[in-house]
Amino acid sequence: MAIPSHVKIVEVGPRDGLQNEANPVSVEVKVGLIDRLTQAGLPVIESGSFVSPKWVPQMASSAEVLAAISKRPDVVYPVLTPNMQGLEAALAAGAQEVAVFGAASESFSLKNINCSIAESLDRFAPVIAHALTNGVKVRGYVSCVLGCPYEGEIAPQAVAQVAKRLADMGCYEISLGDTVGVGTPLKAQAMIDQVAALLPVSMLAAHFHDTYGQALANILAVLERGVAVVDSSVAGLGGCPYAKGAAGNVATEDVVYMLHGMGIKTGVDLTKLIAAGTYICGSIGRPTGSKVAKALG
Ligand code: HMG
Ligand code: MG
Repeated sequence: MAIPSHVKIVEVGPRDGLQNEANPVSVEVKVGLIDRLTQAGLPVIESGSFVSPKWVPQMASSAEVLAAISKRPDVVYPVLTPNMQGLEAALAAGAQEVAVFGAASESFSLKNINCSIAESLDRFAPVIAHALTNGVKVRGYVSCVLGCPYEGEIAPQAVAQVAKRLADMGCYEISLGDTVGVGTPLKAQAMIDQVAALLPVSMLAAHFHDTYGQALANILAVLERGVAVVDSSVAGLGGCPYAKGAAGNVATEDVVYMLHGMGIKTGVDLTKLIAAGTYICGSIGRPTGSKVAKALG
């Protein structure tokens, strides 16, 4: 299959990145980051989570953040909603798009959302239906698609089954998450092949964490399978609080540099993106995780 000529980047730094910060990040800084990402031309900026503040305290300010950002009409600002309580809060905060998040691993599902895979899918069905009734699009995540911190290897068929269920329930896009970043390119392709046997590849997104330094190679491998949506995090921020040792997502700067170097369009201004990364790293006192930002910044 031909490599896509245009890739949609889903910036997840303000959510997947900042959810893992132990020190509180102010609403002002979150808004400063999201507004800079908007200015940099990102088409989708995941901006928060309506989850239990006891589980993820860092995301407790998501309604305030959504209210304060300068939204551009052509940019989407999705938020995570694990259950009906989260969806109601997201709708009240004016979210235009939400995401439910399941897993291909039973142990990770229990650690992350406190229920089995089957229970999670039963819980998501009314959430997705209610969101769609309210004109809100729903993205579905599948975690641990290339390995689990608790169970090790995960069968690609298990990933495909969960992805198909989420799509059947009404998710328009399925983001396939290598939560712990253990995957390698041929395994990533084999996993995509299994999922693409049940769903159109145009519905699939690659969500790779860079713990083992494999994310760019894995992205290139799945682009070769026709995947044209890539999740990434400015400055490579983040990790998952329920996946011990997981590093941040692949850095958006590095993805954009690679794609532009291959002649693939993203609509993202790399200079402004690097400035957004410099802003958030300065604000939270972290070095950037982006090699491109280090080289060009
Ligand atoms: P639970 O304890 O089973 O929930 O947690 P519950 O329904 O029994 O409720 C317990 C308490 O939580 C109650 O409060 C509820 O009101 C409250 P209490 O009566 O004790 O005071 N509660 C909520 N509060 C606010 N918003 C809500 C909400 N729901 C319940 N939506 C639950 C189940 C799903 C809520 C919990 O496990 C949770 O919040 N988990 C979130 C975990 C999380 O955010 N993980 C990170 C995101 S996933 C990720 O990073 C992976 C991804 O990036 C892809 C990848 O990399 O693979 C997406
Ligand atoms: Mg993630």
